Order: sequence, then C-alpha cells, then structure tokens
Amino acid sequence: MPKISAAKGVIINDSRGEKTIEVAILSGDIETKASVPSGKSRGKHEAKPAEPEKALQNLDKIMRAAALKDFRNIREFDDFLLELDGTPDKRNLGANTTLALSVCFARLLAKEKNIPLYEILNNESASASSFPRLFANLINGGLHVDHDLNPLPFQEYLVIPQAHDPDESLRSVFSFIESLKSILVSRGAGERFGDEGGFVVSGVNPELGLEILDETRRIHDGNVDFGIDAAASSLYSGKDGIYKWRESGWNNEELARIYKWIAKRYGLLSIEDPFDEDKEEEWIGFMRDLRDKEESDLWVVGDDLTVTNAERIKNAAEANAANAVIIKPNQRGTVSETIRAADLAKQFGWKVIVSHRSGETEDDFIADLAYGIGADGLKAGSPLRGERLVKYKRLIEIKKSLENKEQ
Ligand code: PGA
Ligand code: ZN
Repeated sequence: MPKISAAKGVIINDSRGEKTIEVAILSGDIETKASVPSGKSRGKHEAKPAEPEKALQNLDKIMRAAALKDFRNIREFDDFLLELDGTPDKRNLGANTTLALSVCFARLLAKEKNIPLYEILNNESASASSFPRLFANLINGGLHVDHDLNPLPFQEYLVIPQAHDPDESLRSVFSFIESLKSILVSRGAGERFGDEGGFVVSGVNPELGLEILDETRRIHDGNVDFGIDAAASSLYSGKDGIYKWRESGWNNEELARIYKWIAKRYGLLSIEDPFDEDKEEEWIGFMRDLRDKEESDLWVVGDDLTVTNAERIKNAAEANAANAVIIKPNQRGTVSETIRAADLAKQFGWKVIVSHRSGETEDDFIADLAYGIGADGLKAGSPLRGERLVKYKRLIEIKKSLENKEQ
C-alpha cells in the first residue's frame, strides 16, 4: 500500500516546443515519472489543464493533502484527486496535474508489485489485454499544419495495417512511408511535415490525401486500411451550419455525401469527428443513413464529441450517434476514469482507439494502456517522429516480454 513521500514537477517542452509538465513521485526508494501531452484541436468539453506554472504549485497543494494517506489501487488515488479538485472538469487542480500524478501512481504500483504497467491497467479494466492495430497518421492537414502551407481540410489521413502484431505492423507502416515518399516526389511535392510527423499535401480537395495514399497502396507490399480524422469541430464556422476551410464550405449533408463517397471508394475503416462536437443530430443522421444502406461496418469515431467522458459516451451511444471512440487520458485527467470510459464504450459494442495528442512528449504510457485494456487501435502519429515512435516501440517491447515469459 504505497504512501507518496514527495512529488516534484518540472516544466519541459513538448514536440511543438510548447510548455508542459513532467512529474516525479517518490515512495520509499521507488521513483516514477510521467509527462503530459497537449492537443491543438481540443474538444470544448475536455477537462481543463492548468498553466504549467500553476500546475506545479497545485502539485504542492496535492502533496500536502496526500501526506500520510495510503492508497490501495489507482481508483482510490484518483478518487482522492477528484475529491480534492471538486469540479466536473478538473478546473481547480488542472487535468494535466492530475493525469501526471495518476500515471506516476499507476507506475508506482507496478514497480511495487513488480509487475508490468499494462497489468496494473488491465486489473482496472473489464477487458482482456490484446494488441491494438496501429493507426498511423501519415498525411497531416487542418490545424496540425502551418496555414501558409495550404494544408488539406481534414486533419488526419491514417494508414492502418491489418496485422495486430506490433512488429509486423510497424514494419508495414515504415515500408508504406518509403513508397509514399516516392509517390510524393513523383507528384512534385516537397518533404514537409505537420505536427504529428505526417507529410503535408497542399490543396483544398479533402479527397486528395486519400487519392495519394491509394496510389501508394497499389505499390505497397502488405495489407493496409485507411481512415480519416476530419476534426470537423475545427472546421465548423458556427454560421448557417457551414463547415469551412479556406475558400471551400460544406453543409452537413454535403459533408455526409463526401464521407459516404470516400468510404466506398477507398474502403475506409474509420471516420473520426465527421461533424461538430455539439451537432449530435448530424452524427445521428449519418449513422442512420449508413444503417439504411447497410454500410454500418464503417467505424464512426467520436473524439471531440465524447472527450473520454463516460457520461458523454453513454449519451452518444444511447442516441446511436457513433460506434467507436477515441480515448485520450488527458481529455479526462485520471487513469481510472479513462479506463472506465473505454470499458463503457466497449459495453455498448463500440470500437476503442487509444490516442496520443498532437503536442507529445517521450512518455509511452498510452502503449501500455492500449494493450492493457485490449483497445482495438492505437493512434500515435507517424513513426518518423521520435515522440510517436516510442509508443509503437513500447508495444513491441511488451510483445517481446510476453514471448520471453512463455519460454
Ligand atoms: P489534438 O488532435 O491532439 O490536436 O487535439 C488529435 C485529434 O484530433 O485526434
Ligand atoms: Zn481527433
């Protein structure tokens, strides 16, 4: 039963160069660390992070309250944080402060019990552990690219190997990248990258990213599916129901037609955030339409809509607004709430994709989380970027450690 004797935090820079926090906690002679990412196309219903300087001050406050307390499991520790914060969106302590501590605590338990982190997370989950498919964002657009580069309207064009084996899957992503480079060169596109390490393609036609991926797939050796994240909340103008990007604009029906067209043409596996986070009726209409056309095997993925919040997931599932969900620990701010949100989504028969943020750190927590809770996918950007690669590599490390155990 670990007691935390000290916690210290420092301000570090994330992969975008912005400030974030890294926290270390101490219990006896065990020290564990965690750092927190941050998003750019953030959902407005996400838990609220504190300014990094404020987060460090809050850390001291939390440690004073935690003094001499024992916590038997992650949930007890997280409940203590929730109670101390006392708000529905962590606005007092900051979701970054609470998440860093919560992850540190999960790691502390793992070290103390001398078991892998994913096992601690699995104990908290109703699901069996299993390897997720990799969702690699290889063409970046939207808010994740400098506006002057004239990026595509959709934020992410994802390549998703069919293999579940992380080693084979990562090899497939790397070889896809090699082929993609040659296709981009043949189209006269220079090597430019967005926030998640994917290539930048300029243009206003949202289909162009998929056209290029498809051309690549024809010369690629291996089976991959595609997905997109439209991140439509950041396209929504709030005026006359119009989604806007540069000189282009679409209403929800026009967008739905584009989605159905590209889903069929490229055999898409998933479409994330197809509509604005507060336009649930548009999601419901789209889902109904897919059902009527018997195309309901498409994953319609909530991110800004659901923000890793069990209540919002429940509402969306009961309204039949989606059938899959993005799980991002920092949208909620504690490990146990994150796992509960994923479990609930699974109870509704939804697919679950654990995800990084566009501003990342070297922390590989989400890999243990994805494996530990048996997520269907892990979305962690392009492996050309170190802060993304560590997540994929951690999955491979887990696989190797399981193989060693068997021997
Ligand atoms: P964000 O984007 O981390 O910038 O919010 C990722 C996503 O929308 O999935
Ligand atoms: Zn998203």
